Amino acid sequence: MKLLEIQSSVREAGSISRDLSQVFIQAWQQAHDASPSPIEHRKRDVGLTPPAHPTALWTQANYLPPESRSPEMLQALSESETLIEELLWADHLLFGVPMYNFSVPATLKAYIDNVVRINRTFAFDPSNHRYQGLASGRKALIITPSAGDFVVGTPLGHLNFCDSYLRSLLGFIGIEDITVVAVPSQFMDDETRQQAVATARAELTALSTGW
Ligand SMILES: Cc1cc2nc3c(=O)[nH]c(=O)nc-3n(C[C@H](O)[C@H](O)[C@H](O)COP(=O)(O)O)c2cc1C
Repeated sequence: MKLLEIQSSVREAGSISRDLSQVFIQAWQQAHDASPSPIEHRKRDVGLTPPAHPTALWTQANYLPPESRSPEMLQALSESETLIEELLWADHLLFGVPMYNFSVPATLKAYIDNVVRINRTFAFDPSNHRYQGLASGRKALIITPSAGDFVVGTPLGHLNFCDSYLRSLLGFIGIEDITVVAVPSQFMDDETRQQAVATARAELTALSTGW
């Protein structure tokens, strides 16, 4: 089992998404200790080390067949290639994604712009206008804390573009097995905040044996 952990909080100390990711990884590793295939774990920290945004050269290179790319173009795409290879290496993806202005952090968007690429993670058939995800067969877990309560299905859930965006995006590249663990109300009173963390911990512990 190959786990890629992708963290996007811009802070390390006090980060709920990072702390709960560690809780989950520890429980998941313990639950699979006796498994015949060893667990491999890689971490990509786009919060602390964001990938470069695509440039004009990057875009030009992306739409050319690999054999037609100049050395400069290959260089422009090299970080993206590394990130895609790492993503496709994994069969389990754990995303730590704080809600930032109702959506994902810009650091994660930069990562997404680098990994969602034609003929690498999705394909398009012009004869029937169909898209096909090329990253199917993977599982994704998204741990998403927020200051307020914008959990989908609650009164302000329509403002949550984090869940819907990541579900659509991962589905687009073929990843259908997606679990979202929300950790709302982190700027509310202590009791409310702690209760949300405890609920998320319980959800993650329960998930760790079957994921
Ligand atoms: C730039 C920025 C924008 C934020 N936008 C929202 C928001 O739209 N809704 C919300 O409930 N919380 C928002 N927050 C609060 C974070 O989601 C919350 O502090 C969360 O715990 C951060 O994740 P972390 O603890 O893993 O760093 C924002 C925080 C930052 C830094």
